[in-house]
Amino acid sequence: MLSKHNLFLAHVGQTSTEPLLIEIDSARGIWLYGPSGEKYLDLVSGVSVSNAGHCNEFVIEAVKEQLDKYMHLMVYGELVQSPQVSYAKKLSDVLGHHFETVYFVNSGSEAVEGAIKTARKYTSRSRLVSFRKAYHGSTLGALSLYGEDSFKSSFMPLVPGMVQAEFNNVSSLSLIDDTVAAVIVEPVQAEAGIIGPQDGFLGEIKKRCSQTGSLLIFDEIQTGFGRTGSLFAFQKFDVVPDIICLAKSLGGGMPLGAFVSSKKIISTLADNPALGHITTFGGHPVSCAAGKAALDFITGNKLDVAANEKGERFRSKLKHKNILEIRGEALFLAVKLSSSDLTAKFISRGTKNGLILDSFLFCKDSFRIAPPLIIENDEIDYAVDTILKTIDEIS
Ligand SMILES: Cc1ncc(COP(=O)(O)O)c(C=O)c1O
Repeated sequence: MLSKHNLFLAHVGQTSTEPLLIEIDSARGIWLYGPSGEKYLDLVSGVSVSNAGHCNEFVIEAVKEQLDKYMHLMVYGELVQSPQVSYAKKLSDVLGHHFETVYFVNSGSEAVEGAIKTARKYTSRSRLVSFRKAYHGSTLGALSLYGEDSFKSSFMPLVPGMVQAEFNNVSSLSLIDDTVAAVIVEPVQAEAGIIGPQDGFLGEIKKRCSQTGSLLIFDEIQTGFGRTGSLFAFQKFDVVPDIICLAKSLGGGMPLGAFVSSKKIISTLADNPALGHITTFGGHPVSCAAGKAALDFITGNKLDVAANEKGERFRSKLKHKNILEIRGEALFLAVKLSSSDLTAKFISRGTKNGLILDSFLFCKDSFRIAPPLIIENDEIDYAVDTILKTIDEIS
């Protein structure tokens, strides 16, 4: 009889040759538990998914209530379903500005695909500008926006007309001209290793888009739902995009994505051709019920505001000669160690010491600190002590 690890390796599709291989039995709050009582403090949140905490009781209650009513009924957009309607209304209230219409899909990649199609059709232009070291998803359209060529070369040919500018380099914005349908940018670049925008950079992109008639799309798939210390990062940096892409924490732990804009822009998908963008499970009622409960929990407990002080607590206590830099905002932090090798060793040792850790797709000398936003001060202190002890052990 094969062990569960071996069955996993034999029958579950693999994304790398070195999966973490930690078996998890249950999860609550900021903790993940193994089958033999192992306990791990989660510093990753499933990559910015579990902002309201694992198995949040209000989310579970909302899911159970919805399960008793109905699950899937019909391809997205045909029937009036209360969980979609009330979540769309809540999202448009918290986003404000012109964000009145929410197009629900299943994932972040699909949100990006939908936003690309909307921008192309709305502007009757085809080209898109993204940024180096950006990650917008793994489907072919989103992959074409990838800011790292080494991830793209095995999958050619990709969608034509996509070019990458340099993040935080105003002169490279000259790539944005009147043939460009849209510019897509993460307000804080996540997989680049949490790189924030320099003062005024997002505003410069917006100015250039206004001059050329290109739409501005913010990918807030990691930065949304309080992670950067305001509910959405565009609110923190005070630059309002035309379209915003959401996923990850949007579903409160269930799969859900969305792109959000004005009624005028989103309705471009409704005709000529009708059904030009359709999705069977997009806006799944159980996911919408879960997501709305999670967002109500985040806003009701002001977890976005509290994330600022909690992030500051991590920063002020994480002092070690091998920590070269801490970047980021609130509970969206990157800790840079002296080399990529040391960071890999740290992650492996830290897991043995009971931490769930990860580095970044395009930045291997740093690891992330992005716990569920419900983390308490004593838990932050415990995480910091374990991090510092782990760095000592591998130094
Ligand atoms: C910034 C960003 N955009 C898009 C995506 C793609 O989302 P998904 O994995 O749900 O397709 C991700 C996923 O990690 C992401 O971090």
